[in-house]
Amino acid sequence: MIVAIDGPAGAGKSTIANKLSQMLNIHHMDSGAIYRCYALAAVEANLDTQSPSDMQNIVKNSSVRADYSVTPAKFFLNNKEVGETIRENRISSQVSFVAIHKCVRDAVVENLRETSKEHNFVVEGRDIGSVVFPNAEHKFFLTASIEVRAKRRFRDLQSAGEDISFEQLCEDIERRDHIDSTRDIAPLTQASDAQLVDSSNMNIDEVVKHLNQMISPL
Ligand code: DC
Repeated sequence: MIVAIDGPAGAGKSTIANKLSQMLNIHHMDSGAIYRCYALAAVEANLDTQSPSDMQNIVKNSSVRADYSVTPAKFFLNNKEVGETIRENRISSQVSFVAIHKCVRDAVVENLRETSKEHNFVVEGRDIGSVVFPNAEHKFFLTASIEVRAKRRFRDLQSAGEDISFEQLCEDIERRDHIDSTRDIAPLTQASDAQLVDSSNMNIDEVVKHLNQMISPL
């Protein structure tokens, strides 16, 4: 079974996908983490994330894999565990550029589809219900107002010890939304058969309960 959860940055997809997967007793696949691994590879090699040839180089010469036998899953770039480095703001600010490139998207989509053969998953991302798993049994599009999303991200980054202003964060999120939803290939979009969930006025547990009820109504 595949449960697809798509939506913009800061909508709470990761926390919700994580809790929902535990409730359903299946695995959680974080597709954004795979894009982040390629972004980390490019940033660490001092390459240009907006250059198609630089990104082709990265895809050709990097191995990215995930270990879903543990919770939370671990991600590896060239066999080295990446840990929380992929969540740093220096990577967040580049990853939307990385995710534009066809070579990157092809590699990630193949990775996700291959992995899905092993287990049942709650998969979170931007194009999961629309492109990666169009036949997913359940599809949700999770969103929230820009203010609510920025506040959530601000709290997360502050507790990770990152120094960033709230205004800067709002700008970053708006820029990422714009890049993610206007790119040519597989833009952020609500699949026609996905259920829209606006979490602006809901807490995490309320959203998880709501999704669980839609998946298992009895
Ligand atoms: O969910 P996230 O913030 O970790 O995702 C990081 C970036 O990866 C996001 O800005 C867009 C890209 N992404 C994507 O294009 N398609 C996906 N299925 C998942 C993420």
